[in-house]
Amino acid sequence: MERRVVPTGVEGLDVVLGGGFPEKRLIVLAGCPGVGKTIFSAHFLYRGCVDCGDEGVYVSFAESKEAFYENMEDFGLDFKKLETKGKFRFLDLLTVKEEGVPAVIELILKEVADLGAKRLVIDSFSALAQAFKEPHEMRVFLHTVLSKICRFQGCTTLLIVENASENDKVVFGAEGFVADGLIRLKRKSLEHRLLRELEIFKMRGTPLSETLLVFTLKDGFKAFPSFKAKLVDNPQRFQPQPDTRGFYSTGSPSLDVVLGGGYPRGSAVLIEIGENVSTLQYHLLTVPTAWNFATQGRGVIIIPSAGVDYKVIRQKAEEGGITSDEINSLLRIFVKEHPGIKLEPYIVTFKGENMSEEYAKYLMVERELMERTGQPVLHVTGADTLIGTIGLKGTLSVLKTDATWIRETEGLGIILLKPGYPKMAKILSSIADIHVKIIREHGKILVYGVKPRTNLHVLEMDTSKGYPMPKLTQII
Ligand SMILES: Nc1ncnc2c1ncn2[C@@H]1O[C@H](COP(=O)(O)OP(=O)(O)OP(=O)(O)O)[C@@H](O)[C@H]1O
Ligand SMILES: [Mg+2]
Repeated sequence: MERRVVPTGVEGLDVVLGGGFPEKRLIVLAGCPGVGKTIFSAHFLYRGCVDCGDEGVYVSFAESKEAFYENMEDFGLDFKKLETKGKFRFLDLLTVKEEGVPAVIELILKEVADLGAKRLVIDSFSALAQAFKEPHEMRVFLHTVLSKICRFQGCTTLLIVENASENDKVVFGAEGFVADGLIRLKRKSLEHRLLRELEIFKMRGTPLSETLLVFTLKDGFKAFPSFKAKLVDNPQRFQPQPDTRGFYSTGSPSLDVVLGGGYPRGSAVLIEIGENVSTLQYHLLTVPTAWNFATQGRGVIIIPSAGVDYKVIRQKAEEGGITSDEINSLLRIFVKEHPGIKLEPYIVTFKGENMSEEYAKYLMVERELMERTGQPVLHVTGADTLIGTIGLKGTLSVLKTDATWIRETEGLGIILLKPGYPKMAKILSSIADIHVKIIREHGKILVYGVKPRTNLHVLEMDTSKGYPMPKLTQII
């Protein structure tokens, strides 16, 4: 039999549910106060109405209609308009609750039938439960909702359940057993910052591609499945992002916003990479900065991280539409000398024996680029390569000297630090003007600023411009 689904109205959720909630079913949505249950439900009803033409009813035992309408307006959900059009009804049962469960059931049934509602939200089951006088009333209520509203009226129903604390052992009561779907919203702390999680405990008849998503309430309820790389359909040349006074653009408008304008001119930037973050993922943040320098005729010097071949870098440059001529004239990649190395104009070799000689060579390459282009230079340094060549102490000394030099020449230095150097991270953080961390949590890639301090942001890949760009959404 064909599986019929109802789009949830929540961005990012349908894709893991194979299209949406199973139709005509009862879904329990649980969570602590203020976690986002009402906002989730509002999207379910609003988008359902606007996108699918489904009439909806919101039954409230806690919030007044005025408060609900006003709060949801902040997210661009105009329920007043839906009500005027006869597509939506808000049923305020704050006082009716006291009259007992039969009265409540009767009113809900009547509204759903009158409107021919296809979607119903009961906010909340926990508030209604206070009116239950006998234990069997709960069963009667759940049974009525399941048989008369879900099955008979064909109305997909969200039943909200309140948890007292995030550590509640019992998240779902008896309603958890009869419900066809169980979702829990959670707030937690990660790296001393707010993380919001949505966990799908069950969804009958639905093959789930993932069960734990993160979400944000920024500009509405938006869920994020695991990071996915996208293909670029129609490759284009990178469009330079203008710098502002005092700041270099990171090349990504999205990252510029997170950092409050971009990277300050003459600054040292530390990008700390967490466990299990792939090269592709951190390149998403760093490569646009190099494109932004190259497409404005500025030089870029790179000491690649271990495992990143110069060919990979060349290929990255080409992804942004950087030409061979530009690569040859503006890019300089430092590669450790090895037998059979192919010398290209953009490759500079080093031996890793005499540090001061090598640093002098580095500065010469930089000076040549600066003089020829008449512009500042971007330095990208894989700290692990330096550490592997000149040790921790040598690396620190070089990076400190370089940071001072970059400040003087008003260039930009990006230091990439792979996991496994916690002490180094601390010291480099104190040298750096900007410190950004990129980490992985349940397959989601999260980015945040240590300096300046920011919230967590979810990283996605945006290929709409014809080249891979980061899209960062703040978790609030
Ligand atoms: N304009 C807004 N933009 C972003 N987030 C907001 C906005 N307004 C409120 N919030 C967030 O939404 C939360 C409230 O969400 P919601 O009302 O959906 O929670 P709830 O789970 O229904 O809470 P309760 O159990 O108290 O009914 C607030 O705690 C706040 O963090
Ligand atoms: Mg609520």
